[in-house]
Amino acid sequence: MKNTFLVTGSSGFIGYHLSNILLSKGFKVIGVDALTNYYDKNLKLARNALLKKNKNYIFYEENLENKNQIQKVFQKHNINIVIHLAAQAGVRYSITNPDEYINSNIIGTFNLLEIIKNLELQHLLLASTSSVYGANQKMPFEEKDKADHQISTYASTKKSMELISHNYSHIYKIPTTVFRFFTVYGPWGRPDMALFKFTKNIIQGKEIEIYNNGNMSRSFTYIDDLINNIYKLISIIPLDSQPLNINDSLSPVAPWRVVNIGGNQKIPLMKFINILELELGINAKKKFLDLQLGDVIETSSNNKLLEYLTGISPKTDIKKGIKLFVNWYKNYINLTK
Ligand SMILES: NC(=O)c1ccc[n+]([C@@H]2O[C@H](COP(=O)([O-])OP(=O)(O)OC[C@H]3O[C@@H](n4cnc5c(N)ncnc54)[C@H](O)[C@@H]3O)[C@@H](O)[C@H]2O)c1
Repeated sequence: MKNTFLVTGSSGFIGYHLSNILLSKGFKVIGVDALTNYYDKNLKLARNALLKKNKNYIFYEENLENKNQIQKVFQKHNINIVIHLAAQAGVRYSITNPDEYINSNIIGTFNLLEIIKNLELQHLLLASTSSVYGANQKMPFEEKDKADHQISTYASTKKSMELISHNYSHIYKIPTTVFRFFTVYGPWGRPDMALFKFTKNIIQGKEIEIYNNGNMSRSFTYIDDLINNIYKLISIIPLDSQPLNINDSLSPVAPWRVVNIGGNQKIPLMKFINILELELGINAKKKFLDLQLGDVIETSSNNKLLEYLTGISPKTDIKKGIKLFVNWYKNYINLTK
């Protein structure tokens, strides 16, 4: 029998793409999303409408904070793999709205763990973030590095989620993979993230705000690379066994592992903007600002463990990735005019 997946945050950027690939492979996907209004809800509805065209997609507009309602979803369906992507995302918003992060990321994840603790789940996969590496100076970030100095509420709630999932994995023997994603971009991307905001403002002739005077860099990760790696990791189930003969992050006391998924190149922000300007054929009006509270200056992903596990790593060229985003964006804006 084919697996039935629960994807939380299925109407979000990553959840949409992941649900799509699962449906295309013939799996049943139970999508749960609260359709929060953190950013334009129409974009979430548009993604969800596309998914709903597939009869194997069943959607519930529910909030993970509402445990009873989520419990009912599990009672209705025979779910054997859970991919938990729902979260209150965003670093800067977490400084001004911390309660949303505690509720969504900590209480929401805790509720999910409480519901699944007694099920015979094949695999639980959770989305964490490169932001948990916080103030770490050692580059590139590696899974076994200490990650104890988060500098935003977003990052500390994600780190908390990682920790709670570890103890549930230990006590209830839940095979768990925690992903640390690095700045994901591509079609159907998030309006609160740099590429979307920059593209929109440059096309409209408005200023773009460049933090830390442009002295930042990121392991930008193209969405298809991310999804292909997640897809492979679904069937790489951490079990109570010996760690791999490399720098594996497998826990010594639980079937639990953390894996980075990040672009294989660290791109300076000004280079990123320059590629976007060339793609749009417009010079951006630039407003240089100081480093924003909560932001880290640099992220860089060590993908050795990922490559070892999946045999692939994110390689899409940044120029190609930006081009694919811009094409999608122009098309989407025309459709919604
Ligand atoms: N996009 C990135 O660059 C990136 C980087 C690192 C980590 N992540 C993590 O990956 C996951 C997916 O991110 P995304 O970029 O698709 O974000 P997104 O905001 O597009 O998707 C998250 C979805 O979760 C839903 N949601 C939020 N709180 C909820 C709740 N309490 N109950 C039910 N649904 C809820 C939202 O409505 C949204 O549709 C998140 O956990 C995020 O923290 C993303």
